[in-house]
Amino acid sequence: MAALTTISDIGTHEGQAVIIRGWLYNLRESGKLLFPIFRDGTGTIQGVVAKNAVAPEVFDALKGLTQESSVIVEGKVRADKRAPGGYELDVNNVQVVQRVPDSDPYPISLKEHGVDFLMEHRHLWVRSPRQAAILRVRAEIIKAARDYFDDRGFVLTDPPILTPAACEGTTTLFPVDYFDEQAFLTQSGQLYIEATAMALGKVYSFGPTFRAEKSKTRRHLTEFWMVEPEVAYATLDDIMELAEGLITTIVQRCLERRRRELETIGRDLSKLEQVTAPFPRITYDEAVKKLQEGFEKGALETKFEYGGDLGAPDETYLASQFDKPVMVHRYPAKVKAFYMEPDPQRPDLALCVDVLAPEGYGEIIGGSQRIGSYEQLRQRIQEHDLPEEAFKWYLDLRKYGGVPHSGFGMGIERAVAWICGLEHVRETIPFPRMLHRMYP
Ligand code: 4AD
Ligand code: MG
Repeated sequence: MAALTTISDIGTHEGQAVIIRGWLYNLRESGKLLFPIFRDGTGTIQGVVAKNAVAPEVFDALKGLTQESSVIVEGKVRADKRAPGGYELDVNNVQVVQRVPDSDPYPISLKEHGVDFLMEHRHLWVRSPRQAAILRVRAEIIKAARDYFDDRGFVLTDPPILTPAACEGTTTLFPVDYFDEQAFLTQSGQLYIEATAMALGKVYSFGPTFRAEKSKTRRHLTEFWMVEPEVAYATLDDIMELAEGLITTIVQRCLERRRRELETIGRDLSKLEQVTAPFPRITYDEAVKKLQEGFEKGALETKFEYGGDLGAPDETYLASQFDKPVMVHRYPAKVKAFYMEPDPQRPDLALCVDVLAPEGYGEIIGGSQRIGSYEQLRQRIQEHDLPEEAFKWYLDLRKYGGVPHSGFGMGIERAVAWICGLEHVRETIPFPRMLHRMYP
């Protein structure tokens, strides 16, 4: 009896008869020989079918079989040093589960297609080995992030997705009709996990978040997934260390468990191998100095004005000065969110940090210490024109046993784009949502 297995496990069945359930990825025909390549989601393997070695109906079923037809294949595993995975399959039986019609062939052929076409067929594009490899790395990154927090005594607490108010600024909210009221899709779970941190000490959330900014950059999605830790009694320094640990753990894990996928994607692994603690830490002031030097050297087109937020070219330039992620801390409070604690030494600065990924991938983490004072927080809410009524509960956290606390958010798609070395975040999530894309 042939054993049911997967292509990734096929090496444990050398010389034996196995059954694989998958799809026809490609077929090469050469007279009385067929060379089908099968895929099953775990990998691809080349089969060999000789006309005189199989029953005529088996040869006929495979001959001319259309790409992506679903098949159950039986064959004997043979080691072959020249094969990409190290093994080939001598096919002796095949059952076609569904034949892709000749009149309406699979739209994504193995030749090049434009990105728009591929995005329009994203539901099929995810089958390609490169896209499948990216999704496996994404899953590994998510698992590594969860393990990192779970192993350190953090409790997962899920914030709501429908919320009555803004967290990261009112200009980027998606409104939703909520019976007779107006609600918004959450931009970040932060405010809610500040509450659960006061209940449980160390918490994190992991969920979808939404930003309605009309941005078309290669780093922006309108729907993305964020992992956010929040820690009672933690300072900015504490969470900078936590962020450094999270990133090194994730990169290490991908190098250990997803090396093959990263190679499929074509990632330069030596770049990832450099990502070890400690990461460089520079203040916003130091960053501005470097940016102005960069302008004088002609590496930047415009001179950076002190006081502004960093743009994408600024982040890229700064990151290019280091071969590890760089942590930029203490930005001017006025370019950052309302909830950030001012630096007691320089109240015009916020106790915040952005972690910039190397190789031009930009900000992957943003975080801060949170305002502790009830009065100061109330004032900030007013200054930012936020509806005080909606923040009453949030202010309560400063009234009933307020403590210093800090946290950050890491965008999963930005982390995936960096670790996989992708041009654009649209390939980091199965079905990206962007300014001009809601289909499929
Ligand atoms: O810097 P952001 O806006 O910070 C917050 O939302 C905080 N409330 C997090 C916290 O302190 N708990 O977003 C955090 C991260 C960014 O560094 C980036 O990685 C990602 O979320 N991000 C996006 N990713 C994809 N598309 C977008 N439009 C993103 N906006 C932010
Ligand atoms: Mg940010």
